[in-house]
Amino acid sequence: MKVLFVCLGNICRSPTAEGVFRHQVRAAGLQDEIEVDSAGTGDWHVGKAPDSRTARAARQRGYALDDLRARQFEVADFQRFDLILAMDRSNLRDLQALRPATSRAELDLFLRRCGQAEQEVPDPYYGGADGFDQVLDLIECAGAALLADLRAQL
Ligand code: 4NP
Repeated sequence: MKVLFVCLGNICRSPTAEGVFRHQVRAAGLQDEIEVDSAGTGDWHVGKAPDSRTARAARQRGYALDDLRARQFEVADFQRFDLILAMDRSNLRDLQALRPATSRAELDLFLRRCGQAEQEVPDPYYGGADGFDQVLDLIECAGAALLADLRAQL
């Protein structure tokens, strides 16, 4: 099972989702069953490490994101991944527009799929420090729900 998290820049929300979910998968001993990656729809930050505010907030909760590097989503990802989870509706729309008719990958909003009342992980890039903690709260909760869901399918 291959899961890809997608946001706009791949330096805030989706690397957080990658790091948190990988941690959750490993804690459950499912690292050989579930592969995790992330990408951005935009190309502005390709090759860069996660935003320092994102990395700091994650580190405070025990997640190391510093080795991750941003990459841009590519159409071939629709063949490589089983499940592609967008952080917000704008990311989802951009992905839907790129999706080849032959792709069998499942494409959805990360939070909707995980049964949260809140449907979007808000972009923290231009906001204050609280935004990064809110992103972590939403992602930890949705990641746990996603893991339970995938585990039932393995
Ligand atoms: P992300 O956040 O999509 O969660 O990585 C953003 C990062 C950079 C920009 C926007 C959102 N930007 O405009 O450069």
